[in-house]
Amino acid sequence: METYKNPAAPIADRVEDLLGRMTLEEKVGQTNQLVGVEHFRQNLASLTADDLFRNTAQAIYPGHKPEELEKWTRQGIVGSFLHVITLEEANRLQHLAMESRLAVPLLFGIDAIHGNANCPDNTVYPGNLGLACSFNTGLARRIARQTAAEMRAMNMHWTFNPNVEVAHDARWGRCGETYGEDRCLVERMGVETVHGLQGNLDSTADVAACAKHFVGGSRPDNGTNGSPCDVSERTLRTTFFPPFKATVDAGVATVMPSHNELNGIPCHSSRWLMTDVLRHEWGFNGFVVSDWMDIEHVHDLHGTAETVEDAYRQSIMAGMDMHMHGPDWVDAVCSLVKEGVISEQRIDESVRRILELKFCLGLFEHPYADPETSMQVRLCDEHRRTALEAARQSIVLLKNDGLLPLDPNRYRKILVTGINARDENIMGDWSASQRPENVVTILEGISSFVGDGCEVLYVSQGWDPRNMSSERVTHAAEVAREADLNIVVAGEYMMRWRWNDRTCGEDTDRSDVNLVGLQNELIRRVAESGKPTILVLVNGRPLGVEWAASNLPAIVEAWEPGMYGGQAVAEILFGKVNPSAKLSITIPRSVGQIHCHYDHKPSQYFHPYACSSSEPLYPFGYGLSYTTYSYSGLAAEGEICADGTGSIDVSVDVANTGSVDGEEIVQLYIRDVYSTFTRPVKELKDFKRVALKAGESKRVHFTLTPEMLAMPDADYHWVIEPGDFVVMAGSSSRDNDLLKIKINVKK
Ligand code: BGC
Repeated sequence: METYKNPAAPIADRVEDLLGRMTLEEKVGQTNQLVGVEHFRQNLASLTADDLFRNTAQAIYPGHKPEELEKWTRQGIVGSFLHVITLEEANRLQHLAMESRLAVPLLFGIDAIHGNANCPDNTVYPGNLGLACSFNTGLARRIARQTAAEMRAMNMHWTFNPNVEVAHDARWGRCGETYGEDRCLVERMGVETVHGLQGNLDSTADVAACAKHFVGGSRPDNGTNGSPCDVSERTLRTTFFPPFKATVDAGVATVMPSHNELNGIPCHSSRWLMTDVLRHEWGFNGFVVSDWMDIEHVHDLHGTAETVEDAYRQSIMAGMDMHMHGPDWVDAVCSLVKEGVISEQRIDESVRRILELKFCLGLFEHPYADPETSMQVRLCDEHRRTALEAARQSIVLLKNDGLLPLDPNRYRKILVTGINARDENIMGDWSASQRPENVVTILEGISSFVGDGCEVLYVSQGWDPRNMSSERVTHAAEVAREADLNIVVAGEYMMRWRWNDRTCGEDTDRSDVNLVGLQNELIRRVAESGKPTILVLVNGRPLGVEWAASNLPAIVEAWEPGMYGGQAVAEILFGKVNPSAKLSITIPRSVGQIHCHYDHKPSQYFHPYACSSSEPLYPFGYGLSYTTYSYSGLAAEGEICADGTGSIDVSVDVANTGSVDGEEIVQLYIRDVYSTFTRPVKELKDFKRVALKAGESKRVHFTLTPEMLAMPDADYHWVIEPGDFVVMAGSSSRDNDLLKIKINVKK
């Protein structure tokens, strides 16, 4: 038997043996990713030339036929597919790969961002931004593990997740797929997601993760996806790099650069990012995959390569390993090698990395998934329960003047209205349409809670915030007068299958952060009824709902709560679940407040805004509960020295002073009082979810380590400067919510 076919041989030997048998074309083929054949077929009729240039979700290959993709697969010159969304197609394409000369299996990549939700009949968990509001890293790991199982049950091996960008701009439609604005939270959620997805990367229960997008796209110049990012190396190293470094340390198998140019260089041709930092500094040994047509964009958008071929050359020489996606790559790269522009050794490096992953994932031994058992895994009870639990833990109660929780027997008529009241949009971006029986809408959730004598009056506003009708708004306002409680379910529209009608999500950025369309009018007119009015938001980015915050008694931020979002929202409204989530991202009042992240520099608000508040609407780490917590007795014991030794035990008493059991998210921040380079006014360093029964109190301990106090020196080496630090613990990032104590770091 050939060594590469021998499961007992060491992986390194199998890789070398296989590599030694491959032609140049087959090698380059391994670095070649294409969209699925069915995807191609379905889009044939509809895509325009402009779509092909701009749309980053759909593709066809003009001048080619879908059958050619099958032919290339049989020829062994396709290494990977993306956007294959059924098990049948995955197995079918894999059969074709098995017919190729060396029978190297295909690696199927998919955007399983919150569950394998882009495919039908999979569990849809809450989106990442909401999930991060749970501050529950164990839950993130569990969801990732379950996602891996559902993916493998569909013969999918690689997800383009986690997105570990630090989100700094609420206009950016992709905030929802990140874990928010804080480096520490993003890092922890991202690392646990990698562990959950990958396991030990050595079995058929594991999938490869992809840390993306490296880097800077989450601080886009004008808020639009892929617009330039100009930030200092210091900011990169203190804010945007650390989550990527942490996922590399956690063994992430792949990394994807971002669409944007960073400080004048497209990330897809940046040797500094892909080789110097990623490989040399951080020791990354997986492979780098390009983002959608972004190598081409080095030529046709950024204009730093005169030809596409030169863009390919630049990108490969900068460290790119796999091309997402297109029909011309194999021929072009083979020619570059034959002309001596790129060495075959350079190609070998990439192929080695890709083959190694295929061996690690067991694809040579298990190229298919079993359709008979697939549905035993997907949507199984355990996964559904986790989706519900995650929704409960990620919904943030933003405001409550005592109206919530609702007594189900108190109301006779409840008006439910708004674009998100009865829509599967609760599943959020990166989710396909799912069977209605697997989705609990908010209207369904509420209806299942009300008492027998209560009538739910539903007034549809359609699903489309851009095209609301004033007649329907008027109708809702009239019904509100009859009702004794109003619930308006507003927000954004994220479903991918209506790509051009969305208001939020990938490539759907806004120049504003208010509610789109007639939604504000709807809220105002319903509230004018004088009946208590609750606003429930479903959205994948922060929304500056200032009017509602000043005028309504209750606001619930549900984010993209997933398939059981409606149930979880209702459970919170009616008090079956005590809300515990805290904001993973600051909510600005208006678009003018963009970059209002809590960890800003000391001078940021030295001169406050004239004519409006400089305080955000709701700060990072903030979220209400049906109970109250009090903090006392903050203490710090131990010592940290500037040489990096020692540790400090920080502890604080947290008491549940209300009458309901709850879970509090206790947050630990620091501030370096004097430093050589400016540092943020606060930096989150740790957090804990603590369950507290009514009346119970617990002493919560954190270990402050030297690394938590460190900052980059002039040469970007992480150092701990001696001197005073303020240590803060409490219930949000807001000063009033924090106890403070000083510690001193000795020389
Ligand atoms: C997105 C990536 C995604 C890829 C494949 C791109 O447009 O930026 O995040 O993984 O498409 O769907």
